[in-house]
Amino acid sequence: MEKNKLKILMVSPEAVPYIKSGGLADAVGALAETLARAGHEVGVVLPLYSAIDYTKNKLEPFHSPMEVYTGESRELCAVHRSISSSGVNYYFIEYNAFYSRDGIYHDPDFKDFTDNAKRYAFLSGAALKLCLDIGFKPDIVHAHDWQGAAAMAYLKIWYHSDPILSSAKGFLTIHNLGHQGVYPVENYNYLGFGWENFTSDKYEDHGRINLLKGGMFFADAVNTVSPNYARETLYGGMDEGLGNFLHSKGNKYFGILNGADYSEWDPSTDKFLPANYSSEDLAGKRICKEKLQDEFKLKRHADVPIIGVVGRFAYQKGIDVIASVIDGILQNMEIQFVILGTGDKSLEHFFGDLPKRWPGKAGSYIGYSNELAHLIEAGSDLFLMPSRYEPCGLNQIYSLRYGTLPIVRDTGGLTDTVEQYIEADGSGTGFLFKDLNSTSLYFTVGWAISTYYDRKNHMSKMIQSAMAKNFSWEKAAEEYLRAYRGIL
Ligand code: ADP
Ligand code: GLC
Repeated sequence: MEKNKLKILMVSPEAVPYIKSGGLADAVGALAETLARAGHEVGVVLPLYSAIDYTKNKLEPFHSPMEVYTGESRELCAVHRSISSSGVNYYFIEYNAFYSRDGIYHDPDFKDFTDNAKRYAFLSGAALKLCLDIGFKPDIVHAHDWQGAAAMAYLKIWYHSDPILSSAKGFLTIHNLGHQGVYPVENYNYLGFGWENFTSDKYEDHGRINLLKGGMFFADAVNTVSPNYARETLYGGMDEGLGNFLHSKGNKYFGILNGADYSEWDPSTDKFLPANYSSEDLAGKRICKEKLQDEFKLKRHADVPIIGVVGRFAYQKGIDVIASVIDGILQNMEIQFVILGTGDKSLEHFFGDLPKRWPGKAGSYIGYSNELAHLIEAGSDLFLMPSRYEPCGLNQIYSLRYGTLPIVRDTGGLTDTVEQYIEADGSGTGFLFKDLNSTSLYFTVGWAISTYYDRKNHMSKMIQSAMAKNFSWEKAAEEYLRAYRGIL
């Protein structure tokens, strides 16, 4: 292997195309592929969830049995593998007691699995043990979110003098500080970190275990997924209780903006659309709009703007604030509205019922559908994302490329990717607002809608500016490489 080529082992709970609940999967899959295309040797370790289609994803048995240590026992599991066209080795840990069940992190009623601390620590332990068993000597072990974070500790606690792993550096990406993996102390022995590490600077958090915090301590560098979210978590009161620990990393904590995988998310090639289009010829977008209207039983109307929403119904996303104003918006504005998502049960009921109150004007799909996510990006005129906080956000980046102008809260990665519309000259790529409440949401939507009807030239100019934006993974991967090399 050339000297400047790195060996990278990622540990992640999700990655496209195998398993996805949100943007983490998009980010991990795209980063791994981009690094591999640049010539680096990349492995990604994932759980073999029952939702992963073994045949369709071309998995094959790879290594069995594999003995994995926990703090309390030795367990046997099996490893399967799928190699992507760019040459990334995806390894799947088969351990049925943990991964063969309905759901990734929670049951169908959205109740967190009570053994999640053990499930994901096991994944980390298995990832590192795999390196030993197959003689893969990584330069970087790159863990994603609290689910991969235990790998940072095992590197330093278990493997600091191991011939294969002792030279590896630990890199932790925080995709979402709102999820830290906080679990009861009863799990601690199983995790095998040692009670000397159950201290408030590492794993102890008000008497419970905090997997992300401990991982941050042991990682050689930590990043999050946009520069603005890095700033907000350090200085903007959005640290979710971990500010001191982020500050203590010094210049080893920073933001790297995600990219978008334009091989999946570009209207000129998108295979889910009834017609493709580009900034030079937007005719296909009108066909997508018709299809979207049909799909969601909206009246066919070329000149009424559609506002689209795709996202997890979680507190983070501010969907509850949409719920508080959407009837007023539908009452007072000449618009159509579509929403795709799943999560909070009361929001699922609210938006599930919305089309009954606004037939022909509002449509919803409660569930997960990649195909509909693409259609909404393409067929809508505006994309609404009023997040309370947003480490990066990918949907607004996709929206830009689809010429579907984002209406977003001025926070996190939304600030880094959407440029405010300036009424004086029609510059900008979307509509931003500061405070998250029903009034500001209502009036910002109103501003976007009046722009749509009254300043068509500005809309066209913004659509062109938005579609020309390029948030490529190549650029993001270069930044990751620079960061990896910084700690090596
Ligand atoms: P987050 O990772 O916080 O959920 P992002 O904007 O980074 O937010 O990424 C969300 C990703 O998940 C996008 O690719 C989006 O299309 C997808 N997604 C979210 N909810 C659904 C859903 N119900 N059906 C299909 N795709 C969804
Ligand atoms: C998380 C964040 C989201 C980010 C994604 C990928 O799920 O909520 O903002 O885009 O991870 O990094």
